[in-house]
Amino acid sequence: MNDAPIGIFDSGVGGLTVARAISAQLPSESLIYIGDTAHSPYGPKPIADVRRYSLEVLDTLVDEGVKMLVIACNTASAAMLRDARERYDVPVVEVIGPAVRTAVSTTRNGRVGVIGTVGTIGSGVYQDMLGVDERLTVLAQACPRFVEFVEAGVTGSREVLEVAEEYLAPLREAGVDTLVLGCTHYPFLEGAISYVMGPDVSLVSSDTETAKDVYRQLVSRDLLAGPDAEPRHVYEATGDSADEFLRLAHRLMGREVSSVRLVQTGAIDLLKGNA
Ligand code: DGL
Repeated sequence: MNDAPIGIFDSGVGGLTVARAISAQLPSESLIYIGDTAHSPYGPKPIADVRRYSLEVLDTLVDEGVKMLVIACNTASAAMLRDARERYDVPVVEVIGPAVRTAVSTTRNGRVGVIGTVGTIGSGVYQDMLGVDERLTVLAQACPRFVEFVEAGVTGSREVLEVAEEYLAPLREAGVDTLVLGCTHYPFLEGAISYVMGPDVSLVSSDTETAKDVYRQLVSRDLLAGPDAEPRHVYEATGDSADEFLRLAHRLMGREVSSVRLVQTGAIDLLKGNA
């Protein structure tokens, strides 16, 4: 038993979709969520920068005493998952493996589409992991404007639909029957994405599957919170406005996030551990 919080992070609000799934499956657990708004968006940035920012945030969470780290960001997972597993003593859960697993078990015709940031799609991680299954044809498409829309709180406008039509046309024409939302911001655009892809295409997002991984790891390592634990959910942002993050969280998620405090991530020693 361990009542310490689970640490979750994303570049911004996207990882809140994962935090929500974790608190739904594990209501007794305390959480600390950090949105790295000082450096968001990660998607268009060089991989070395994303790796540094991400490790700075993870170091901060570890300093805050978390018992597990959840990288609720595909771009960060693509940039530094291995580094993170070598650097920290606490277990590290990420979002790409769970999404891949679900896509493989969901597709019927073997044609799987993946959408994500420029960083995630450019890293080739989804293409490589899905490509291990030789029966699959994988089509990948970067959708950089999607994160801009979500971070601006715009999820249902005509402009979102038009941009979605443009990005998703090649995937629709290729006849994918399963589409992986390879960015934790994209579930906020699920209405538009599903409208464009049509009702026969299954959308796979990593939030609930990642939460199952968190559950599994906590049980197998005997890290579940005790029966008398009083769960606390703490939300932090690295940018210069906690209010802005809170307003956006309210707009996207309702009142689930009650307050946000600012936190500063420090410069890190990249050579610590084997990172
Ligand atoms: N939500 C993040 C992801 O899953 C990244 C968004 C961004 O900062 O570009 O990739």
